[in-house]
Amino acid sequence: MKKITAFIGSARKKGTYSAVQEFEKNLKKLGDIVFEYVFLNDYKLEFCSGCKLCFDKGEGFCPYNDDRDALIAKMEESDGVVFASPSYAFQVSGRMKNFIDRIAFIYHRPRFFKKTFTAIGTQFIPFGNQTQKYLESVGNNLGFEVLKGTTVIIPEPIQEKQLKKLKANIKSLSERFYKRLNMKKPVKPSLFKIMIFRMTRSGLQSSDLKLYDYEYYKENGWFKSGYYYDINLGPIQKAVGGFSDFLGRKLFK
Ligand SMILES: Cc1cc2nc3c(=O)[nH]c(=O)nc-3n(C[C@H](O)[C@H](O)[C@H](O)COP(=O)(O)O)c2cc1C
Repeated sequence: MKKITAFIGSARKKGTYSAVQEFEKNLKKLGDIVFEYVFLNDYKLEFCSGCKLCFDKGEGFCPYNDDRDALIAKMEESDGVVFASPSYAFQVSGRMKNFIDRIAFIYHRPRFFKKTFTAIGTQFIPFGNQTQKYLESVGNNLGFEVLKGTTVIIPEPIQEKQLKKLKANIKSLSERFYKRLNMKKPVKPSLFKIMIFRMTRSGLQSSDLKLYDYEYYKENGWFKSGYYYDINLGPIQKAVGGFSDFLGRKLFK
């Protein structure tokens, strides 16, 4: 049994919800799935004040006591996560963006390794996929294993042709997602991901500023490891890692 949680950035139970429902329906045809809907609108989430205390001192110093940690716990309890948002002015909805801002400290201290993530963008205009692309980048920055998502076009009312296309898109996404979810071995990190990890950690070590990220990396043994988690790196990955350590030391001194 696998647990999937979908975070939905629309206040309406309409287009985005129906695309996610289609995703759930397809996944459940493929195997034993427990599926939870998280409508961000139903949760208490204050507007990020930008104080940066979560970055500098730790997330426990956030001035708000709301549902942020309950939402993070939902991701931690899941094997797979979907972020779905309508496009508002060619980007994610403000509701989704505020959620992302409130958990952006995880970009500094990623954690959702080995969990599958994908993105569903919904929009009216039949071209462009900025919402989907942005949500994919969010998944990567949070530490997830990101699977290319989809953008569905949902005019109101939706015509038969568009509905058929939506169903085909979501079916293909569900199949890829299910396959990834059940892969035994974690995906090897890309060279880019290794570079980011190694430059960040050696930068943190070289800098005189020892903020919370430094403590966090130290506690997790990340100053000594090849990557965030235990994985066999090949000779090229090791060489790129070593060079990135060197670059990080130079750049952030
Ligand atoms: C404030 C606002 C801005 C929007 N901006 C765009 C846009 O830039 N591009 C687009 O294709 N659709 C845009 N739309 C349309 C929605 O993305 C589209 O109708 C979506 O499917 C709505 O999802 P929902 O039914 O889950 O609310 C916008 C809608 C709203 C309310």
